[in-house]
Amino acid sequence: MKQLRMTVNPYDRKSHINREIYGNFSEHLGRCIYGGIFVGKDSDIPNTDGIRNDVIEAFRNIRLPVIRWPGGCFADEYHWKDGIGEQSSRKKMVNTNWGGVTEDNSFGTHEFMRFCELVGCEPYISGNVGSGTVQELSEWVEYITFGGESPMSELRRRNGHDKPWKLKYLGIGNENWGCGGNMTADEYAPIYKRFQTFCKNYDGNELFRIACGPSSADYNWTDVMMRKLKHEYGWTAKGISLHYYSIKDWNNKGKATEFDEKHYYELLATARFLDPLITHHKEIMNRYDPDNNVGLVVDEWGTWYDVEDGTNPGFLYQQNTMRDAMVAAISLDILNRHTDRVIMANIAQAVNVLQAVILTEGNKIVLTPTYHVFDLYKEHQDGTLLYSYCTNETISDEKIPAVSQTVSAAEDGSMHITLSNCSLTEEYRIKCSITDTEIKNVSARILTGDAHDLNDFDRPDNVVIKPYKAETEGNDLIITLPPCSVVAVRVNE
Ligand code: AHR
Repeated sequence: MKQLRMTVNPYDRKSHINREIYGNFSEHLGRCIYGGIFVGKDSDIPNTDGIRNDVIEAFRNIRLPVIRWPGGCFADEYHWKDGIGEQSSRKKMVNTNWGGVTEDNSFGTHEFMRFCELVGCEPYISGNVGSGTVQELSEWVEYITFGGESPMSELRRRNGHDKPWKLKYLGIGNENWGCGGNMTADEYAPIYKRFQTFCKNYDGNELFRIACGPSSADYNWTDVMMRKLKHEYGWTAKGISLHYYSIKDWNNKGKATEFDEKHYYELLATARFLDPLITHHKEIMNRYDPDNNVGLVVDEWGTWYDVEDGTNPGFLYQQNTMRDAMVAAISLDILNRHTDRVIMANIAQAVNVLQAVILTEGNKIVLTPTYHVFDLYKEHQDGTLLYSYCTNETISDEKIPAVSQTVSAAEDGSMHITLSNCSLTEEYRIKCSITDTEIKNVSARILTGDAHDLNDFDRPDNVVIKPYKAETEGNDLIITLPPCSVVAVRVNE
């Protein structure tokens, strides 16, 4: 067992960890919405207004703060008026991006807002810029948020919702450099300006407009958008998005469950790339916006593998192992560390798609190892990031750090430490001292297993969080990290 030293300085308070860092993304893609979240009122699967009770409960447990919808690429071909009114008379469409299946629009605005209400999270709506009109998006905002008398608010009332909803997060398009219109940044920017102008704030509802940002390392996109916002448009966008998926090779993504040691570390190295990526985008943003008017919204992140055998290639259904749990832990640590600029993040996706936190099959539900990481990390939500430093080792040919951590302080004075050990072979004993802090009580929980361990419908509890030992030595904390593990420690709660 190797020894590492860690120090935490509670006086060095870095930044606020917005709870929205722990957001999810849900798209009309495969079985994310249909079967995953929504089964309809007449289903035998226990539901509330058509929304699965088990999924509601699971999201409530991890305190899901925000969920993005209806896409993704789907958002830029979605026409919201097709998804309101009597279910039986809703217009059908072809989901051209995802398997060419028929979308019956039975899950629309009312169902989505109800889902958010039941879970207790903020809705984040991604507007159609690619194939929609300015009027269409403007009317959607009016439909959702206007309380007075107007064509759209009357329509909402006729559809059974008298009071307006609150809507904060509004995306002005999705991936407009790709499936959202194949535009350059210079082409998108004026279109963004026009669309956002007509998305109004009604009745005290204040929109937080999120402009389409770059794909991964397209730094030019960030540069163009930030320059235009600063010099031409004013700070009309409060957020700019960034999409980054952990994929080693787009042409050969590999299977979620089939990998060797080399692939394991390679994938973790791609997840770690999120760190320099955000740093570089931040440098550009800092140049134009030192006062932080615009936040970075990482509204799609996670692993992306080849689909499971026998499933529709357009449905992006993949299993989820302890390897994904490690990706989640190191990604969340990176996001936490950048909360001086990163204000929201949304893992792709919530249910049954890509690095899902939940898998469903009929009436069965599985909480993935990734879900459990969100559970371990939930105490960081709305905490203050504290300075922490851990001596470390670099491991594998990828030379990635073995240990990763986040330390935050909650408002009640308690401290929350999450630590992960990416090594497949080495155990680390961490001796942690916290400046000027008497440790009165400490408790811990752990998620660990072989990198290939997973939960499936026959063994839903194969990988679960267990209570763990956290000891003290004098006034130091002693935390032992087994290989491939994530540990959450509560101090002075
Ligand atoms: O999450 C799957 C797809 O990935 C989204 O629809 C799109 O925005 C991205 O390319």
